[in-house]
Amino acid sequence: MSNPNPVSVLIQPLGEMPPEAVVFGATEAMHSLRERLAKIAGANVPVLIHGESGTGKDIIARMIHANSPWKTGPWVKVNCPAIPGTLLESELFGYEKGAFTGAYGAKPGRVEMAHRGTLFLDEISELDMGLQSKLLQLLQDGQFCRIGAQEDKKVEVRVVCATNRKLEEEIVNGTFRSDLFYRINVVNLHIPALRDRASDIPQLVGYFIDYYNRKFNARAPLPSAELMKALKKHHWPGNIRELENLMKRYVILGSEESIIGDLRPREPDFFSADISVEGPVSLKKITRQAVHELERKIILKVLQHHHWNRKRAAKALGISYRALLYKIRDAGLPSTRTPKHSPQVEVKETAAAD
Ligand SMILES: Nc1ncnc2c1ncn2[C@@H]1O[C@H](COP(=O)(O)OP(=O)(O)OP(=O)(O)O)[C@@H](O)[C@H]1O
Ligand SMILES: [Mg+2]
Repeated sequence: MSNPNPVSVLIQPLGEMPPEAVVFGATEAMHSLRERLAKIAGANVPVLIHGESGTGKDIIARMIHANSPWKTGPWVKVNCPAIPGTLLESELFGYEKGAFTGAYGAKPGRVEMAHRGTLFLDEISELDMGLQSKLLQLLQDGQFCRIGAQEDKKVEVRVVCATNRKLEEEIVNGTFRSDLFYRINVVNLHIPALRDRASDIPQLVGYFIDYYNRKFNARAPLPSAELMKALKKHHWPGNIRELENLMKRYVILGSEESIIGDLRPREPDFFSADISVEGPVSLKKITRQAVHELERKIILKVLQHHHWNRKRAAKALGISYRALLYKIRDAGLPSTRTPKHSPQVEVKETAAAD
């Protein structure tokens, strides 16, 4: 079998990056992230980058590599969810000739390719327990074993991991090893959501408009004050990726009307007293919504804790099974644990047993 992924193809170029001033903006949280990054880039310790989807984890990982003493070495990124579970082990750790049917030659894994460079494991929570053990060994003593090999190999590699999940919850659910978590989490970099750094939005908007104007040979102007206000108020569930795509569309379509419909204000925070008092304030309505929201959060937490076993969850919550089913449906929660990366299933549950 010919090797479909020669080493040279897998050692990726770092790619284009926005200027640092744009990446970090001016908010306090990003300022401390920048300082932390500068301190840790040079030390060979594992780093865990955490942040919602589209917040810039990839960019921060590349910056760590670019500012490290290993910057002239390889940059090897592994997008864990993109590689089917059965192939991930051979992609990561490689194999020897004859290790399995079809292994006609030996093949190095990406761990080996990252020797004296940076190995970036994106969405680390996707690794199954077996691969988590192999990664733990790599982090503990720099050793790993190709599939089918008799002996361990040694590498020097800086490991950077990223996730948009709460690994602490995965540990509670029994799907992530706590010892691996402590190993990869020597330094933790949290990237704030875009809605929490709304004052950086005008600068990002200016950058993306300029970038796409040049790319598409267009002349879209900076947005009006009204549009900018809507951009700052938007909830940004897709974070900077969503903003970038929206600005791209604005530049291509050339009108504010074409994007304004996609913007909606962030969901109200029912637990904050910071509400508008300009109009009528219905205390009854607000407290009802707050109780509803709190109930939803607690039910979700208890369900997760009991691995979605609704009978046990109902017992823990001190309510009947039937009442829990009703509340799950009422809160728009899935009735069973949703598989990773699949859309939430609609709840069409009756009072059938688990
Ligand atoms: N601070 C930033 N300044 C400018 N552009 C940014 C910034 N952060 C992210 N971007 C852009 O937003 C897009 C998404 O960023 P990135 O891929 O790094 O996010 P991510 O957190 O890795 O997302 P995911 O969790 O979906 O993998 C990219 O096109 C990136 O160039
Ligand atoms: Mg990413």
